[in-house]
Amino acid sequence: MYKYESIAEQIRENIQSKTLLPNQQLPSLREMADAFSTSVGTVKEAYDYLERENFIYSVPKRGFFVLGGKLLPTSSQMLVDFYSGAPDIRYIPYQDFKKCINKATNLYYKRLFSYSDTKGIPELISALQRHLMEYQIYTKKENIVVVSGSQQVLDILCRMPFPNGKQTVLVEQPAYYGMIKNLEITQTPRVGIMRGPGGIDFDELGKQFQYGNIKFFYTVSRYHNPTGQSYTKKEREELVRLADKYNVYIVEDDIAADFETDTKRDPVYFSDIYDKVIYIKSFSKILMPGLRLAAVVLPPLLLNVFLDYKQWTDTYSAILSQGALTIFLESGMYQKNRKEIRRIYMDRMKKLKDTAAGIDTGGEIAWDIPDSGFFACLRLKQGIPFERVQPDFYKNNIRMMDTRGFFLDEFKNDNYYRLSLGHANEEEIESGVKKLTAILLGQGKKRNQFFIRNIN
Ligand SMILES: Cc1ncc(COP(=O)(O)O)c(C=O)c1O
Repeated sequence: MYKYESIAEQIRENIQSKTLLPNQQLPSLREMADAFSTSVGTVKEAYDYLERENFIYSVPKRGFFVLGGKLLPTSSQMLVDFYSGAPDIRYIPYQDFKKCINKATNLYYKRLFSYSDTKGIPELISALQRHLMEYQIYTKKENIVVVSGSQQVLDILCRMPFPNGKQTVLVEQPAYYGMIKNLEITQTPRVGIMRGPGGIDFDELGKQFQYGNIKFFYTVSRYHNPTGQSYTKKEREELVRLADKYNVYIVEDDIAADFETDTKRDPVYFSDIYDKVIYIKSFSKILMPGLRLAAVVLPPLLLNVFLDYKQWTDTYSAILSQGALTIFLESGMYQKNRKEIRRIYMDRMKKLKDTAAGIDTGGEIAWDIPDSGFFACLRLKQGIPFERVQPDFYKNNIRMMDTRGFFLDEFKNDNYYRLSLGHANEEEIESGVKKLTAILLGQGKKRNQFFIRNIN
């Protein structure tokens, strides 16, 4: 924890315990700096943070004051955010990253305001080549392209022609809603294959690969969004075998690679000896989505067409972000940050698992809870339309996403509810899951009573 965070935490506790009262003025920056034996700048950072989080407000030329009443969440009406897929703002290493931005501004200033290489700046490509080896991705620099987030890769891959001459994209069901949305807006022909609690049916996958005119199969191979599932080694190898046999590409979206707890679990790319896997590594979950940077490793046959599309989409990805990320990767800050973030999400998942295990749902709810990553899912034995439970979620200060957006039309159902742990700490998870399951079970009971009344 940084010094400013511990100062902010103490002030926040004082506000919540009412030691500091609404509209009470906080000590001046200088007084606080003396009290905490720190600099005025660090206290200012703590105050700015509390202001962003709606705990205090500032009045020009007067100072900082405690924000009153309604806006302040108390523990009895704390907001539990199971919706947001963005990382927890409290753990974004923005102090370290700020240093990297400053250094990048000095190092790359001659290039910052001019046009640049569509592939990405050479320094970042070299850093990425080394970085990717940590995930068992061994590739030449020529095959790596820096992109403006993994969403851009998905978009380009949907739009560009593939060397196999096929047109249809096959997606797991459910699948990341951003991919589903992209397929819709690019009007790409699409089909799905169920990825249920037991994984996917490889016989069916083989048939789809063989007869389905499949251009590529999109997969989130580990800590899947939304189900949290990961493929076994055997399944990963089978994917590659089928891809080669039926000339289908695999797009491996490895957005959760950094959360991996099993050092022996490799990406699908690792087994690819046929140049059939396109590997995407995002920095949005582990670092910050605002960077808008990801890397893609492409088979040589796809490279030039992909670069053409990238060039005429956004010319190149933001250089300041690229420069700062290069320094962040090369300095060891990335590894330090990754270790901390991974631990936080493992603890959150454990809390979710323990809480879910303590709730008797009478077999109405099944859980998919991985040991790490961002997402977990619950499956209802009998579906409940989201709009029926949304008002209760709202009343109970729970934010949930409508998980139907993760399904193609023909797969849509009311059984899945995704929980993102990006913005929910352990306390919030415990109270939120209890409320959430009570709401879903309560709605289930109401529906059953309705049916019984109508049958009688
Ligand atoms: C599975 C998956 N892929 C891609 C993305 C988009 O990420 P990026 O910010 O790198 O564009 C997300 C974002 O939540 C995601 O969950």
